[in-house]
Amino acid sequence: MAVQPRRVLVGVLLVLLLGLSHWSTHFSAPVLDPKRHAIISKCRNLHTLPGPPPNFHARTQSDRFVPGTQPYLLTNAKIWTGRNNGTEILDRGDILIDGGLIKFVGKVKDSLLSQYGPELVVLDLKGAWVTPGIVDMHSHLGDFAVPALDGAMDGNSPKGLILPWVRSLDGLNTHDDSYPTSIAGGITTALVLPGSGNSIGGQAFVIKPRKTAEKSSNAMLVEPPYNINQSFPVLNGPPRWRHMKHACGENPDSIYKVTRMDTIWALREGYNTAKKIQKKQDEFCERVMHNDWEGLGDFPEDLQWEALVDVLRGRVKVNVHCYTPEDFDGLVRLTNEFQFPVAAFHHASEAYLVPDLIKQTYGGTPTIAIFATNARYKLEAYRSSEFAAKILASNGMNVAMKSDHPILNSRFLVYETQQAHFYGLPANLALAAVTTTPAKAMGMDHRIGYLRQGWDADLVIWDSHPLQIGATPLQVFIDGIVQLDEPYVLRKPKSWQSPPEVPNFDKEAEQAVIHEGLPPLDPTSIRSRPVVFVNVKSVLATSLSNEVEELFVAASDAKEALGTAIAVDGRLACVGECRIAALEAAEVVDLQGGSISPGLTTFGSPLGLEHIASESTTNDGEVFDVLSSSGIPEIVGGSGAAIRAVDGLQFLSRDALLAYRSGVTTGIVAPLRSSVVNGLGTSFSLAAAHKLEPGAVLREVTALHAAVSHLVKGSISTQIAALRNLLLLPVEGPLREYVKQILNGDMPLVVEAFGADVIATLIVLKREVESVTGKTMKMTITGAAEAHLLAQELADAGVGVIINPARTIPIIWEMRRYLPGPPLTEHTDVSMLVTHNVTVGLGVWEVWDARNTRFEGAWSLLAAGGKITRSQAFALVSTNVEKLLTGTEVNGHERDLVATQGSGDDLLGFGSKVVAVLSPRRKLVDLF
Ligand SMILES: *[C@@H]1O[C@H](CO)[C@@H](O)[C@H](O)[C@H]1NC(C)=O
Ligand SMILES: *[C@@H]1O[C@H](CO)[C@@H](O)[C@H](O)[C@H]1NC(C)=O
Ligand SMILES: *[C@@H]1O[C@H](CO)[C@@H](O)[C@H](O)[C@H]1NC(C)=O
Repeated sequence: MAVQPRRVLVGVLLVLLLGLSHWSTHFSAPVLDPKRHAIISKCRNLHTLPGPPPNFHARTQSDRFVPGTQPYLLTNAKIWTGRNNGTEILDRGDILIDGGLIKFVGKVKDSLLSQYGPELVVLDLKGAWVTPGIVDMHSHLGDFAVPALDGAMDGNSPKGLILPWVRSLDGLNTHDDSYPTSIAGGITTALVLPGSGNSIGGQAFVIKPRKTAEKSSNAMLVEPPYNINQSFPVLNGPPRWRHMKHACGENPDSIYKVTRMDTIWALREGYNTAKKIQKKQDEFCERVMHNDWEGLGDFPEDLQWEALVDVLRGRVKVNVHCYTPEDFDGLVRLTNEFQFPVAAFHHASEAYLVPDLIKQTYGGTPTIAIFATNARYKLEAYRSSEFAAKILASNGMNVAMKSDHPILNSRFLVYETQQAHFYGLPANLALAAVTTTPAKAMGMDHRIGYLRQGWDADLVIWDSHPLQIGATPLQVFIDGIVQLDEPYVLRKPKSWQSPPEVPNFDKEAEQAVIHEGLPPLDPTSIRSRPVVFVNVKSVLATSLSNEVEELFVAASDAKEALGTAIAVDGRLACVGECRIAALEAAEVVDLQGGSISPGLTTFGSPLGLEHIASESTTNDGEVFDVLSSSGIPEIVGGSGAAIRAVDGLQFLSRDALLAYRSGVTTGIVAPLRSSVVNGLGTSFSLAAAHKLEPGAVLREVTALHAAVSHLVKGSISTQIAALRNLLLLPVEGPLREYVKQILNGDMPLVVEAFGADVIATLIVLKREVESVTGKTMKMTITGAAEAHLLAQELADAGVGVIINPARTIPIIWEMRRYLPGPPLTEHTDVSMLVTHNVTVGLGVWEVWDARNTRFEGAWSLLAAGGKITRSQAFALVSTNVEKLLTGTEVNGHERDLVATQGSGDDLLGFGSKVVAVLSPRRKLVDLF
């Protein structure tokens, strides 16, 4: 074969550039076969680590630039750049955006601007905060598309435990309803991981969720290792990072019915297979490098294992879903046995208990990517701590907050880091935890995660400091492209432009470690002495008719203006200016400018009937399905059975105590949703030790709970037929008594329904029943995602709603027309319903979330943008919930109150910590 001089020249240049010692010694052969050349190049590149080309930041245009995009100049911005460990803040700075890149950050010079004509759009941000776009390093956007439909469930392959060859890209649905809503929360980049049903779930991909002209999955990718017309990583030049998902513990075990022993063996076996291929490749290349071609054959390769071989070559960011010490132990051993690094441990609920173990991972300490308070849903998450982020950071570990979208809605990923900050993660690290830290862990920090010249123009302009609760984007840029059309802007007070002053939780964090994740949570009860609260900023309590009312508000934050409150037997005896001279024996609690507000009420999760969701022996269990062929056994009462939640109550779950410590004093719970008729709800005190304690059970039976939705069996029309018959035909058995109360209007019928069509049918059913009985029936809708579409009709029918979950993610089809609120819509579902005079409450779906009820109240208040009052926001998470679910008037003077300490904030803010519960009905004050 003729030698082409140009090719030899290229070969020589390549040798010089790469400084190849082996090659130069053997470069005597004048003839170079192109096939051999390709093999040599492949062998040379085998050990090259991924990363951007050295001249990457010299780029003048992004590879994701969309021609025609206008350049932007943002002026007067308060810029958190991500640099200097997240401490660099540029006050009143400018950001110039062009070519999909950040062209300048700081005080932009006229000489730079003079290059631009009238096409430059100038936005005066008037001091608003700007951060890099939010980066979510654990997402299933596109692979578990929303609403969840069988036709778009592509996150977990059922084909085996070890699947390094499957790719999340291949399931990436381009029509996920979550893309625009995630962007509305500031998400600009997400690592889309396969699910955790396998030990190796497959390869992961980095996406940007914006619309693309191509409308393809491929066009969403950021620095994919290969392009649309090939399936193998590009061989020339520095390779790009690849990403892979691994999982250990309960998820693979439960799906494949194997043990932890099997899953770790499956990993070792998989890695051993890859290792053998790697060895063959290395031996092959060793011979190539020695110009020893005799009988060499083809490069050893295996399509199924090439990605795992790349892991062994350190060219893959491995993301491991792993919770507990035994699982970390297994993984750390695996990384040392096969010598590959791990980018991040995800979920990692007990990582904060074993930092030294994690640090023994081969190749360096992985980033820990966690939730803030989502915990205890299964055994391996039982010892999770809200202080984990703080503790891990203080051990010098990198902490990222992640959504696991749609497990948590990635629209609210910033809320996760706000909570981590509330519980002690320093502010600079909290902002980094959703920007620079995940960008680094993904090997993408050369282009995302910072506001720096030459980085991708992904950024968020905020309506308040991003660590303030309710912080909402005013605008989001991805690749320099404006994402929000006519965003609805909330006006926030000036004080919200600084980070919140959060309470100190050092002692609690220490206790979490000492007690290995199970610190004692029980309060100290003061029964016989008065408790005097001093330095009180405000007292919000409930009137006799159970309306939230202001009893005292200090004229200012000045110490002289602050008031006093005295509780005797758990009851407020004096508020404002109280004489405390005579109370020597009293317990004194300094609220330091804090407040007293109504204790909150939780509904919607199985709190009170459940300790660990996935452990059946820790729960009340499911009620029989009346619509199944076997129905409810006769000894239980057949279809006339009266299943009462009160009979299954379990007190002192950790989630109940944690909620109590967060100001939730009352729970209302119904038997678990499993059929159209589920049974009778009950209300109880979250801190009582057991049912027989005075004040433990507030109302044995509160309401009859039904469900009409596709979360239970039977068609919607069948379920409605069952309800109609229950109400209008004679009922045999103990349920008859309760149905009579419902028909008389004495007890509410509470129906879980999400879609507007079902809700409309329920309004018709209510009319139908009332026309027969001639009496007004009380009906409450829970779930209620689409209730806002019928706001007037609900008001006219006198039907109230509990929006559950609050801040819905429309996980099922019947929720898809929910109202997302600002910046996407002016109204939220709450503000729409409240302005129509519908009585509204808020609920949570899962027991761990009950503790966040106070923050749900805050979110609703802030997102309503002035359309609801602070008292109404309190009512959403307290009195309204009770009205809607018990239908009886409660004496508001018997209601629990909660005292918070710190910075003039009440329960609805990040500035305060709950320090006491005043309980008239239990005749005590609990101190924490
Ligand atoms: C980064 O910030 C954290 C918390 O503010 C601090 O503890 C840590 O030492 C800082 N790291 C560096 C390298 O400055
Ligand atoms: C391969 O795909 C890229 C886009 O990723 C395109 O620019 C290029 O022209 C394609 N090459 C071939 C040979 O089709
Ligand atoms: C709601 O109630 C208020 C006060 O009773 C009334 O002024 C208002 O018109 C009502 N709004 C609607 C939409 O019915």
